[in-house]
Amino acid sequence: MENKSMMILAWILVLNICTISSVVQCEYYSQSPPYKPVLEQKTNLHFYLHDILSGKNPTAVPIARAASGQGPVPFGTLVAIDDPITEGPELTSAVVGNARGMYVSASQDANLALVMYVDIGFTSGKFNGSSISVFSRNPITENPRELAVVGGRGLFRFAKGFITVHTHSLDQINGDAVLEYNVEIVHP
Ligand SMILES: *[C@@H]1O[C@H](CO)[C@@H](O)[C@H](O)[C@H]1NC(C)=O
Repeated sequence: MENKSMMILAWILVLNICTISSVVQCEYYSQSPPYKPVLEQKTNLHFYLHDILSGKNPTAVPIARAASGQGPVPFGTLVAIDDPITEGPELTSAVVGNARGMYVSASQDANLALVMYVDIGFTSGKFNGSSISVFSRNPITENPRELAVVGGRGLFRFAKGFITVHTHSLDQINGDAVLEYNVEIVHP
């Protein structure tokens, strides 16, 4: 009996908290107050991305591919990546982060084009722990080409912008590539 009244009391308390408190939310959504934009800043980042398909320790591995097609990444190939990014073009240069995610070979014509779903995270300096989200087509026969930055984490929350990519080097046979990334983003 005592237990039962304790339970009822507890429920009354919970219900009261739901109706009178704005801290505890009892719906899956909250009110939408007007959004006051803060002054945004522009950040430029410059690094090299190493996409290595060959050898014993590839940083890019096919996880699915279509039955037909030629070359290292024929149409329909889905590749998972954990590509190191470095300050300079050599792999021995300081590692500043990694590009993790995947890309799919997504063009049926002669001009190989990828679509990238990649999070580029930084592991040193001011932006250690922050990352930018890239969701974009990547027409790799164009030099330079542009990728879209659609968001980010950490200091790059709400980021948006673009990346100008130059192919620094490309092995036509095995697909290994070093790409120069010039990032321009705005964020709070
Ligand atoms: C980056 O941040 C991690 C986690 O806070 C820390 O362990 C690491 O030492 C930092 N690296 C550098 C180079 O600052």
